Amino acid sequence: MIDLRSDTATRPTAGMRAAIAAAEVGDEQRREDPAVNALQERVAELLGQEAALFLPTATMANQIALRLHSRPGDVLIAERHAHVVIYEYGGPAVHAGLMIEAIEGRAGRFGVEELDAVTTPSTKSADQRATILALENTHNSSGGRCWPLAELRAITAAARERGLATHLDGARVLNAAVATGVEPSEIGALFDTVTLCLSKGLGCPLGALLAGPRAAIESAWREKHLFGGAMRQAGIVAAAGIYALDHHVERLADDHARARRLGEGWHAAGLPVDLEQVETNFVQLDVSALGLEGDEALALLREAGVGLSSTIHPTVLRAVTHLDVGDEDVEQAVERVSSALASRVAA
Ligand SMILES: Cc1ncc(COP(=O)(O)O)c(C=O)c1O
Repeated sequence: MIDLRSDTATRPTAGMRAAIAAAEVGDEQRREDPAVNALQERVAELLGQEAALFLPTATMANQIALRLHSRPGDVLIAERHAHVVIYEYGGPAVHAGLMIEAIEGRAGRFGVEELDAVTTPSTKSADQRATILALENTHNSSGGRCWPLAELRAITAAARERGLATHLDGARVLNAAVATGVEPSEIGALFDTVTLCLSKGLGCPLGALLAGPRAAIESAWREKHLFGGAMRQAGIVAAAGIYALDHHVERLADDHARARRLGEGWHAAGLPVDLEQVETNFVQLDVSALGLEGDEALALLREAGVGLSSTIHPTVLRAVTHLDVGDEDVEQAVERVSSALASRVAA
């Protein structure tokens, strides 16, 4: 099967496995693992922050960030379909006691007026305390869409003026940086804390980092332990992260070009793809225009040997390019999907 379900499908390359095998390791909980320490320093610099903490997953990084910025009963402001709102199993409520003020975005984005609408105090003395603004870049549920730097500047400045802490779920922030031609540090430095995931486009087997000011990252070490995320010879995995930063960042542009080729191929075959929405490594296919349910379409495509996945929008399917998808896979996927759905296009 040509697996376009997610960029989490990647398996470590031979080069990455060699880096893993050669990793110098130590006890991470004692801060004695050289590979972990090196990765943390590298990522802090990459994201324009003072320090970073290595964690098993991006979900844990997001959840720890929320705890750092809030007290129970506070309000988290985020886009309605953000990962932290819909895919983290109610984590903001469970781990940080947060209520969520969800803003309906456009391509995962919203503006200062919308922020104002949910932060302007009413005359009631019992107003809830909005304390955090969490943004996502790229925004997964809208199809890997990017925030333009100017918009990020405006909204993070407005948040700061209103006394909000800012967190970036930058699980795919390197895709955003490559696609918009901006240094990752320019994006990262706008926020108080930033999550980066290693196990998506970067191709590592697992791992994520939370970057931020030194004092916040010190507190995050404690949170990591509380979450059961403190590890031992984790340099085995951190070495993969260092390898990925050396070898797999610039090549994200290849994933983006392949997503575009896929979108163009399907569009040329009459399939419902909005090419304007293809900004990074995701292509969205709204099969309602073909008179199909999402599950029905997924089954048809699976039979044709191509794996796509569902999204929170019931009839919108998603294809994601990644390290394990080459040009030939893309050509095959253009052909197979176009012919599997051809009768629907004509209908
Ligand atoms: C935007 C975003 N944030 C966070 C995560 C969570 O990543 P992990 O699976 O490493 O917890 C994902 C995973 O898909 C994601 O897309």
